[in-house]
Amino acid sequence: MGQEEKYTSDHPDFVYSVGNRILHWTRALVITGLIITGFYIANPFLTPEGSSDKLVYGQWTQWHLILGFILIASGILRIYLFFFTKDSEGERRSLKDVLSIKSWITQLKSYFFIGELRKKGLYGPLQFITYSAIMILVILASVTGLILYVHMYHQGLGGWLYDSMRVVEVWMGGLATVRYIHHIVMWGYLIFIPVHIYLVIWSAIRFKHGAMDVMFTGYDYHLKKEQEKKEDDR
Ligand code: HEM
Repeated sequence: MGQEEKYTSDHPDFVYSVGNRILHWTRALVITGLIITGFYIANPFLTPEGSSDKLVYGQWTQWHLILGFILIASGILRIYLFFFTKDSEGERRSLKDVLSIKSWITQLKSYFFIGELRKKGLYGPLQFITYSAIMILVILASVTGLILYVHMYHQGLGGWLYDSMRVVEVWMGGLATVRYIHHIVMWGYLIFIPVHIYLVIWSAIRFKHGAMDVMFTGYDYHLKKEQEKKEDDR
């Protein structure tokens, strides 16, 4: 049987809008850059050679901040797309699966190769919870990052945000704790990224669909028999 006969190439599912895809790859690149520059800021191993005008540490921090503000902007946009656009309807529908014990059991069983993964929304319940946790990490990195930022720049945006960020800083237990939380967030990403890449490839093979392609083209392909079952479920 040819590939065209086995897969739903005529009616693939439209899963991610162009905005969602651009924001996914923007954040993937920006977070990688933040981890690299953050690692250096935490342990500045390169020192200016004999002259203070080289300001090596300052340059790493400058790039960290540029990437940090891109992360904040893309995080805000992504939250907007999730809640307010029609294209994210499949993502929002996943909440039904999170609230259904039956869906949790089906997903966990399917991970142990018992039965198929049937779901109402785009994500399985565990997947939805994980992606939400990753979004919370973005918010945490952004807020703690801004607190650290207002202590470096006292004019412009830094001055404007200073009083409100100081309040959050006190809630969090002081500047040392804020810096510690900011650092721990990086480890959250270092654990998430390899697991995420592994599971995307695993899911494409296990459930025979376009798990990887979907973030490039926006469209997902399923085996024809799976597509028929999915349509019955809706
Ligand atoms: C995934 C996102 C991020 C990661 C992984 C990350 C990582 C890090 C790490 C590891 C440090 C060093 C902490 C230490 O000294 O132990 C750091 C410092 C810092 N980060 Fe981030 N960061 C992220 C996002 C942000 C954002 C959104 C901002 C705000 C715009 C920001 C602003 C800062 C500032 C101001 C510092 C302190 C720089 C200094 O002390 O010279 N970060 N970051």
